[in-house]
Amino acid sequence: MSGNKTFTMIKPDAVRGGHIGSILKMICDAGFKISAMKYTHLSKDKAGAFYEVHKERPFYGELVDFMSSGPIVAAVLEKDNAVADFRTLIGATNPAEAAEGTIRALYATNMGENAVHGSDSDDNAAIEANFHFAGTEQF
Ligand code: RTP
Ligand code: MG
Repeated sequence: MSGNKTFTMIKPDAVRGGHIGSILKMICDAGFKISAMKYTHLSKDKAGAFYEVHKERPFYGELVDFMSSGPIVAAVLEKDNAVADFRTLIGATNPAEAAEGTIRALYATNMGENAVHGSDSDDNAAIEANFHFAGTEQF
């Protein structure tokens, strides 16, 4: 059975572009409840640890530099079938391939600077939520 939580970040490009409000509105209009949220700036170490799974990939250094290049919004979102429904809402990793009307189609710049993160499994959603938030910060 699929879980009801996912984890997201509004990435530094979308924050710089002034899209926090529009993206949060799309998330809420799609039926997600916000269980935790913070505005923060990841250090290189923290960005590197978050994306550790991609450590061997050629884009890892660029990804860590980008994710620590400015503030982000981190949030835990709740809805039935949260992980899959949120990935549908954000669209494909490469905005050129993202479906019309998705967050990445509207606000992403390119494959690397793609506006938002969404967890890829229920297990990773829990790990990522607990990476950014203490239990007392999740409601
Ligand atoms: P995310 O984890 O951020 O939600 O993105 P995703 O699942 O759609 O994509 P993933 O494969 O997990 O990649 C993580 C992030 O790394 C950057 N990336 N750059 N230049 C490249 O070829 C490349 N490939 C991936 C993106 O920022 C991607 O979201
Ligand atoms: Mg991913």
